[in-house]
Amino acid sequence: MTVEPRKSSFVPALGAHWLTALYDPLTRIWRAPSRIRRSVIASLALEPGMRILELGAGPGRLACQIKQAHPEVEVEAVDIDPKMVARAQKEAATRGIEVAFRTGDMTSLAREGRYDRVYSTMTFHHLEPAAKTAALAAAHGVLDSDGHFVVADFSRPRDPLQWALFAWIQQPLDGFANTRPHRDGRFEQALRDRFGGVRSAQVWRTIAGTIESFVCTP
Ligand SMILES: C[S@@+](CC[C@H](N)C(=O)[O-])C[C@H]1O[C@@H](n2cnc3c(N)ncnc32)[C@H](O)[C@@H]1O
Repeated sequence: MTVEPRKSSFVPALGAHWLTALYDPLTRIWRAPSRIRRSVIASLALEPGMRILELGAGPGRLACQIKQAHPEVEVEAVDIDPKMVARAQKEAATRGIEVAFRTGDMTSLAREGRYDRVYSTMTFHHLEPAAKTAALAAAHGVLDSDGHFVVADFSRPRDPLQWALFAWIQQPLDGFANTRPHRDGRFEQALRDRFGGVRSAQVWRTIAGTIESFVCTP
């Protein structure tokens, strides 16, 4: 896979570059990410010989977990932040596994490879509305016609407490313009606009708001 040159600005994992080193330790303490990773792995329904691509891999925990559980699957992963890519490469080296982590922008993937599965967790809420649309088009463009795209991210709050937690904790951290489409259902609608089939797989009520995973077919 080749990716287009990196954009100069992006929303880093914890909203500010100086906090990036804390992202991995914090998500180890918070229990929701490991539950989401387990669920996404189940939704991917992996089979030997598949080629898969992660968008916005962060410190690489999910890609490494997949490669360890399914050594016969070829795993590639892209993130726009070189610091995160270096961390992910170190994680793979420590575990003694091969995952192709690369620096790149998920809104402009070159369409030279096809993947059986494309997936992304907790990354779309970092993108501006137009970039979300571009990233969904990019994911759709590299997906095999029999493949599926699995995405987990913030979604419509299912009650007032979840609405308030999202408004007070997550939105100030990652920016209102990028996160509002998740809160008001426009991200889900963008999935439905781009993919032929969209199924809600699981919903989590968390301390930072409601998270939902979707399985999308071309
Ligand atoms: C909150 S972290 C999520 C990381 C990981 N997927 C997880 O679930 O822990 C969001 C990640 O998205 C990456 N990111 C933001 N904009 C991106 C873009 N345009 N292309 C690729 N990665 C991007 C950030 O660098 C960051 O690592």
